[in-house]
Amino acid sequence: MGVALKSEIIQVRKEQPEIDIRGLSKVYQTKNNRFEALKDVSLHVNNEEFVSILGPSGCGKSTILRILAGLEEASSGNVRVAGHEVTGPSAERGMVFQSYTLFPWLTVRENIEFGLKLKGLKAKERKEISDKYLELVGLERFANSYGKELSGGMKQRVAIARSMANSPDVLLMDEPFGALDAQTKQSMQHLLLDIWKKEKTTIVFITHDIDESLFLSQRIYVMDARPGRISEEIDADLGLFKDGELVDVDRFMKMKKHIISLLKH
Ligand SMILES: Nc1ncnc2c1ncn2[C@@H]1O[C@H](COP(=O)(O)OP(=O)(O)OP(=O)(O)O)[C@@H](O)[C@H]1O
Ligand SMILES: [Mg+2]
Repeated sequence: MGVALKSEIIQVRKEQPEIDIRGLSKVYQTKNNRFEALKDVSLHVNNEEFVSILGPSGCGKSTILRILAGLEEASSGNVRVAGHEVTGPSAERGMVFQSYTLFPWLTVRENIEFGLKLKGLKAKERKEISDKYLELVGLERFANSYGKELSGGMKQRVAIARSMANSPDVLLMDEPFGALDAQTKQSMQHLLLDIWKKEKTTIVFITHDIDESLFLSQRIYVMDARPGRISEEIDADLGLFKDGELVDVDRFMKMKKHIISLLKH
């Protein structure tokens, strides 16, 4: 009986989305102004799913992510991660920002081990984990370098490794490749997909790059601005790409045109 009950509970847990946002609104109150940044946003992300949020500048993408991360409070609505109401930051939710956020006084390895040290892991355990992620992001040779010695793409690889090293259930990424040149961006996209497939993390990825959202994600939420809200949910898991190459050009172009028309509107 006890065993059956436990497996039932696990089943129920699996069925509920990892991230569940319902009726989320955010109002910024400034001295003379009341600004409605998000209005009645509802979205969900299933366990191990890769979902993008796409939208014009100022539509509230970062606001959604900051609320999910527990860095900012909702004005109204429900925000649940793994069945729990978000009340503040947690190591279960890793965050990667657009600007490079390495600790400049720490080496690459120390940056990656930062959260592990906070958790009280011993040096040997920390090294095992940092070795794994240094290899995964291809920075073994730079373990002892400092941020200022690295290129933008390398810094973002460290930031991803640092987030992943904490084994978060959810990875929240706010335009992480926005500042990179086209070629570096492309290789980072491939790297992220590789890591996602290996680690099976649930990812919320913010971008305003349509190609990027179609390439990376299984589903896309398209947003509108003023007030920020979801205008459409798009299934992007349609075999557009195979082994990282675009194979269904017609469908890709159709979807891209459709998204462009949504964004224009
Ligand atoms: N602390 C704040 N006080 C007042 N208004 C804010 C604050 N933070 C954000 N806003 C406003 O809320 C809106 C949404 O901001 P947000 O940063 O979420 O947009 P975004 O979609 O991430 O834009 P971008 O693509 O440019 O990063 C913007 O109009 C912004 O001016
Ligand atoms: Mg933003």
